[in-house]
Formats: sequence, structure tokens, C-alpha cells
Amino acid sequence: MLSMTNSFNLHPNRDRVQQYIETLASMVDETKPGWTRRPFTPWYIQGRAWLQQQMEECGLDVKTDAGANLIGMIEGTEAHLKPIMIGSHTDTVVGGGRFDGIIGVIAGLEIARRLKETGTTLRHPLEIVDFTAEEPSEFGISTIGSRAMVGHLSPEMMQRTDQAGLKLEDGIRMMGGDPEKIAELSRKQGDASLYLELHIEQGPVLEQSNQQLGVVTGIVGIHRYRVIVEGKPNHAGTTPMNMRFDALTGASELVLELENLCRETYADPVVGTVGKFLNEPNGANVIPGRVTFELEVRSLDTDIIENILDKFSHFANHVATYRSLDIRIENLSKADPIRVAPSVLEKIAQACTAAGNTIYLPSGAGHDANQLATIAPVGMIFVPSRDGRSHCPEEWTEFEDVSRGVEALARALIEFDLSM
Ligand code: GLV
Ligand code: MN
Ligand code: MN
Repeated sequence: MLSMTNSFNLHPNRDRVQQYIETLASMVDETKPGWTRRPFTPWYIQGRAWLQQQMEECGLDVKTDAGANLIGMIEGTEAHLKPIMIGSHTDTVVGGGRFDGIIGVIAGLEIARRLKETGTTLRHPLEIVDFTAEEPSEFGISTIGSRAMVGHLSPEMMQRTDQAGLKLEDGIRMMGGDPEKIAELSRKQGDASLYLELHIEQGPVLEQSNQQLGVVTGIVGIHRYRVIVEGKPNHAGTTPMNMRFDALTGASELVLELENLCRETYADPVVGTVGKFLNEPNGANVIPGRVTFELEVRSLDTDIIENILDKFSHFANHVATYRSLDIRIENLSKADPIRVAPSVLEKIAQACTAAGNTIYLPSGAGHDANQLATIAPVGMIFVPSRDGRSHCPEEWTEFEDVSRGVEALARALIEFDLSM
């Protein structure tokens, strides 16, 4: 097969990439810290409208699918081939940054624009996707749109409500999706030729090793649980220490135990976090009556995650018994880890090496690619994160580095398009 590497003509326009990122960074909820664009909010809808307009200007045929994913498509020259997809997300965590997810969507947009400007056609159809609500949502689920696309958004998940009483299925409808059709229209194994995603590393490895590009070898699985600890609220001054059923002290033991379990040595790295925590009634002179918290455990090995959660659950039973508390543990979501296929790694590494200094590394963050991996081969490219910071306002990647990532992605696209 003829290699396009020497005649590569899709070099991205760095200034335009910067402008795209800055434009989306202006569509944020200014009542929240950082650059916050939560899904199903006016800022998210505004960002989507801008993106749709940009996609149309690039000559993409734009639609919103049943899971409310925004998809811009260009036909390929060979009608029998399944699409190559490029995607990521434009929602952020509260107090998030300007790059997580965003650069992956912008990369697709810039590549579409360069294809148009250079009159380049691909053999495969190309789909640029802004997946709905990738970050953990108020519904206790991440990667909502990519789950929907591959049939992993269950009817139970769609009935969940957020704190304002919005049902997930109504949120999807509000964003232009069609919840009733999600299962029927979900894509199956082989419905896409390949899924590619550019993302910031969100960790320190590339920066510390002075590398410009990372070829992602695998992505962690993430299991999330809600833990509800029920005690008895009572007067903090009159209730003797041996007559209390304090939900917060019980919950504190559980939080520390999760940390202990995840600090043990395993064959693959593992991390566990309690990032969301609610104490009720939360009064200075009231013994806490109920604590609700969400925990997650991540690893490249599902057995390790399950083993930790087994031990955690035994410990919770023990705490419930000796403190006379009621402790319930409810699963919120499970995403499987993935390993990128060696043949995909090799091509992505070639594309990255042509664009900059490259290393291989795994991803500790979850991505829409975890879901897409159930229907197609997936590949991901990382660019450096300053000080390894992410999910915070300090998140930063130099525009040159983003642009280099877009170039690497475009090179990979061209190579895969020719060879698949
Ligand atoms: C997504 O950012 C995740 O890793 O939770
Ligand atoms: Mn992300
Ligand atoms: Mn994120």
C-alpha cells in the first residue's frame, strides 16, 4: 500500500486551533469556578450550536443521534466501507479546564476543515463526534453519549433523575436525542472501522519525560458505587458517646479503608477515590444521621477492581454491625478497561513519530474510547498537560502541543484510511 507520509498535506492551522479552543472557553457558566460547561445546561447547548455551525462550514453533514451525540459526517469514496470516527466531549467537570475533551472535538473539526481546504477525499466515511456528557454526571454515570451509541445506556439509567428532578431521558430529549430509539439504533460490532481520539494526558508523564506525544496503550476500567450510611441524628450535647449511631464517623472509616485497600500492592496499578460526599443534616450540634458518598476504583485489570470492592464490602458489613448502622452499597456504573490492539498501536506510533517525540503510556482517565472499543478498534493520542494538572482551572496544554497532536491524529487517519 502506498504510504501518504511523505505527501502529508493536512498540517493543522495552529492559530485556528487556538481560536476554536478560546471560543468554546467563552461559553461557560461564569457562576462556577474555572471553565465549567456541564451537560444539559445553556452553556452546553450554546457550545453545541457553535460547533454545529462550524461543522457545517467545513462541509460536514450534521445530525444529532438518538443519544444526543452531535455527529458531522463526510462521505468516503468507497460506499461499502464503514466510517472512521474521531471524537471526544465538550462537557467539563465543575471547575474544569479548557482542554479536557475539547481538543479531541476541535481536532476533528480542524481535520475536516483541512480536508476541505486541500480537496482531500478519504476512502472511508469520516464522522466527527461530540459525545454527550462524558464526565461524571448528576445521574451517577459518565460517557452517557458513547454508552448510548453502543447500546450500554440501560433503561434503568435513563430513568435516573438529577437533583433538580430532571430525568436523564428528558435531558437527552432536550439535547435533540430520541431516548426511545437508543436501543434500536445502537451501533453493533463492525458498524465502524475505527475510532480515534486526541486528548490531553491529564497526568505528568509526557512533561516529565520531555515528550510531545503519547500513544495510549490501554485505558483503565472504572467502577463507581454510591454508599449510604444511615445512623440516628440526635443532640450533640446530650447524647453520651456510647449511645450514638453517628453516620459520619462510620462513613469516615469506610473512606479511609478504601484508601488503605488501594494503597496495597497489586500486579497492575490501582487508584480509588471518594470525590463526592454529603453529610446530613450537617449541623454543628447534630450527630450526623445520614452520609451519602460516591466512590470509584480504577485499574487496567477488572479482577483487581472487583477484589478491592469485595474487601470493601466485607469491611462495610463489619462497620455496620459493630456501630449498629445501616450501610447500603449501590453500583452506579462499570466501564471495562481496554487494551489497544498492537496493529493499531504500531500505526499510531508511526503517525506520532512523524509529528514529534513519542512514547507509549496507559491512560488513568476514562474516555469515550472505552465504550467505542466494544464496536470497533480504538486508538488514542495524548499531548502533554502542564504540571500534570487536569479537572481544575489550572489545566493547560500549549497550543503548539495541541496542534502537534492534531497533526499526529490526521497522519494516523490518512494511514488507516489507506490500509483498512
Ligand atoms: C474522565 O475525565 C474521567 O477519567 O473520569
Ligand atoms: Mn476527557
Ligand atoms: Mn475529564
